[in-house]
Amino acid sequence: MLDEARGLLSHELFSQVDLHRLYGGVVPELASRDHVQRLLPLVRQALAKAGTTAAELDGVAYTAGPGLVGALLTGAALGRSMAYALGVPAVPVHHLEGHLLAPLLEERAPPFPHLALLVSGGHTMLIVVRALGDYQLLGETRDDAAGEAFDKSAKLLGLPYPGGPELARLAETGRPGAFDFPRPMLDRAGFEFSFSGLKTAVMLAVREAGAAMNDELRANIARGVQDAIVDTLVGKTARALDETALAHLVVAGGVSANRALRGALQAAATARGAEIYFPRFEFCTDNAAMIAVAGLARLKQGGAAEHLAIEARAQWPLMSLRAPGVH
Ligand code: KG4
Ligand code: ZN
Repeated sequence: MLDEARGLLSHELFSQVDLHRLYGGVVPELASRDHVQRLLPLVRQALAKAGTTAAELDGVAYTAGPGLVGALLTGAALGRSMAYALGVPAVPVHHLEGHLLAPLLEERAPPFPHLALLVSGGHTMLIVVRALGDYQLLGETRDDAAGEAFDKSAKLLGLPYPGGPELARLAETGRPGAFDFPRPMLDRAGFEFSFSGLKTAVMLAVREAGAAMNDELRANIARGVQDAIVDTLVGKTARALDETALAHLVVAGGVSANRALRGALQAAATARGAEIYFPRFEFCTDNAAMIAVAGLARLKQGGAAEHLAIEARAQWPLMSLRAPGVH
């Protein structure tokens, strides 16, 4: 529940991690069935915690994509129907725009224009954010996303799902430099990333260790993986700050919860006299508050849907978005 004047009044999250852990990843059909059961109780809980009722809402924002269409449809149907029943606008929100705008939930909010590093399980992008809906893509990954590289490496190390945070935890005890994994594209011009080679390097390291694999080796490999990903992300982001001369850097998406990445980016930004902005940890990974903040921003600028369609798009490029009213 987000109030323009009073800020965030409540937010609720039900993690499906336990549901999917058994399978080592998200099972789409189980995810959507579980959404059906969880959504209404969560909405009621959020309303109660905010001390408000549905009748007081001025709009309902929902995630319209991109993502797994079954899960999207469940949320979109509820969001659209609630708005219809209450006679208020519905605002279909782009998941990545939610991540990008999540730092606006903080007291120290980033001004426009700024550079954004968006790092999640599905995306790795450097973007110039000039205003709401005015995005210029500088570069993105050619293959695996940064979060995917964390997750796949974690799986190869035998860590439980979800692998990223587990690998990060293990990396803290690993010895730097024990494993020197590739930092692809780092010395090339431009802002493209490529992380798919990393999992091959990790696979070879695991194979080479064979029966000698132990906790120390595992931690050293984890450290090597994290350092390779962090160096690559920081190197390209620093170069983007230099080339764009932007003085504000936003880091968002699930991987922005990574402490090593936050520290290294902070140092790179400070060295360039730039200000850095992160969402608080719980708003780095997927959450409803970021969808509310993006929805409110669009609603204020006339971006509510003009029709009754339940919008759910599996594919929806961020760069196809425009500022409200701009076609
Ligand atoms: O944004 P998000 O919650 O979902 C997507 O939109 O993809 O990002 C999830 C990704 C996963 O790949 C997860 O492993 C990664 O973010 N992640 C982390 C950490 N916390 C989440 N990766 C590294 N270190 C972390 N602390
Ligand atoms: Zn996400």
